[in-house]
Amino acid sequence: MSENILEINNLTKAFGGLTVLDDVSFSLSPGERFGLIGPNGAGKTTVFNLLSGVYSVDSGKVVLGGKDITDLPIKSRIGLGLSRSFQNIRLMPHLSVIENVMVGQHSQANSVSNLLKPINWMKNNNWRQKAMDALEETGLEIDPDITVSELPYGIRKKLEVVRGLMSSPKVLMLDEPAAGLNPNETQELANFLHDISDKGVTLLLVEHDMNFIHALCERIAVLNFGSKIFEGTPDEVTKDSAVLEAYLGTSEVG
Ligand SMILES: Nc1ncnc2c1ncn2[C@@H]1O[C@H](COP(=O)(O)OP(=O)(O)OP(=O)(O)O)[C@@H](O)[C@H]1O
Ligand SMILES: [Mg+2]
Repeated sequence: MSENILEINNLTKAFGGLTVLDDVSFSLSPGERFGLIGPNGAGKTTVFNLLSGVYSVDSGKVVLGGKDITDLPIKSRIGLGLSRSFQNIRLMPHLSVIENVMVGQHSQANSVSNLLKPINWMKNNNWRQKAMDALEETGLEIDPDITVSELPYGIRKKLEVVRGLMSSPKVLMLDEPAAGLNPNETQELANFLHDISDKGVTLLLVEHDMNFIHALCERIAVLNFGSKIFEGTPDEVTKDSAVLEAYLGTSEVG
């Protein structure tokens, strides 16, 4: 039995002959907050797509809680405790807070009809209560019936996280959760995620904002052109010559 909650072993993926991930490996221990960083196009979102089952791997293995999930369908992975957010797919602004959280039950599904099922079924199930509980557990004190478009951006980002928690994940993967936030909001989101991590949820975060990474992550891996060029702590990364080179030879990362 493995002690790691998530193991990514030798993942390789090519699109049309172009290798976008090349033999990438890293592991997360239970409760860890792990950051995946790298320049645009480095392959970060592709890692998420392979882990969540949106794409199939060319080679390599993904192990969740000791179980090989490499070839499982998306839904089975969610059922086993893997949840994700999508880069640039946000909340539905015209729906209420609670409706958006309820959609979290199915937000991992591919089709729009699946996405909307929870709302159609609202009266006949306990999802509303479950969504209310999820809101309450995270301490996000907002009116559940307010329309999302009325909320400040920083709160919306937290709500996206709550939505991701609806499937009771062991591992929550967030793709650029702090994008577009100001420094204050970024720090608040880091604190919010810290609290969620304290409740036992393992976090895998893709993020460009190094302040956010520093505030939250215990370890990080750096991808560059599909290869892992670094793994270590956020403090170590700023001194790593290969990483500095990848970020255009500047003396600072991020
Ligand atoms: N479905 C696809 N078909 C073809 N190429 C793809 C596909 N998905 C990703 N790519 C390519 O794979 C490479 C890695 O893309 P990916 O989205 O994983 O990068 P990223 O690190 O998330 O970048 P960003 O920081 O800009 O979000 C890019 O060159 C991208 O164009
Ligand atoms: Mg991306």
